[in-house]
Amino acid sequence: EPGTFDWSPFIQHVCKIEGRGEPWQEKERRLRGRLRRILPIDVHRPDPLGSPLCPPADALLSAFCLEAVSPDRATFARALGHVGSLLRPGGHAVLLGALGESFYLAGAARLPVVPLAEDDVRGALAGAGFVLRRFCSYAMPPALRTGVDDVDGVFFAHAQKPMEA
Ligand SMILES: C[S@@+](CC[C@H](N)C(=O)[O-])C[C@H]1O[C@@H](n2cnc3c(N)ncnc32)[C@H](O)[C@@H]1O
Repeated sequence: EPGTFDWSPFIQHVCKIEGRGEPWQEKERRLRGRLRRILPIDVHRPDPLGSPLCPPADALLSAFCLEAVSPDRATFARALGHVGSLLRPGGHAVLLGALGESFYLAGAARLPVVPLAEDDVRGALAGAGFVLRRFCSYAMPPALRTGVDDVDGVFFAHAQKPMEA
């Protein structure tokens, strides 16, 4: 819609790195066609959507949310368990997040973040019953340290809920 956030540079970049020559407008059209609903969520509730997801989700993607809304590591780990409960057995979670970050600026607001180490993320995933499939991270290069936060690095985790026995 006019005046809203323009996602097209991101979709163009994804098409470029995928390298399949797909026109970005086509990917945008397909993505839009697959979006069914936008639901409010509170990751601090054991039932984050307010009612169970039927059927449970195949996949969950969370980017820079759980650590940004949790005052401490225990709350982060609990929140991960809450959103993990939305997944079906065998479902996949892809998490991206900040390492070692204590705040970020959103306009005039200075918002607190729980500073996480890699092992905090691994431990929280294990505690929430996930099997870790892949974990990687990078240190924030000096050129990207712009002062809007004090992040040390970024992690990417792919984890899976075990199939039911
Ligand atoms: C640092 S932003 C990340 C936004 C986006 N995912 C990104 O990567 O740019 C943190 C987000 O968490 C959302 N948030 C705040 N409290 C929340 C809660 N209790 N449950 C779920 N999301 C929450 C905020 O609205 C905000 O969009």
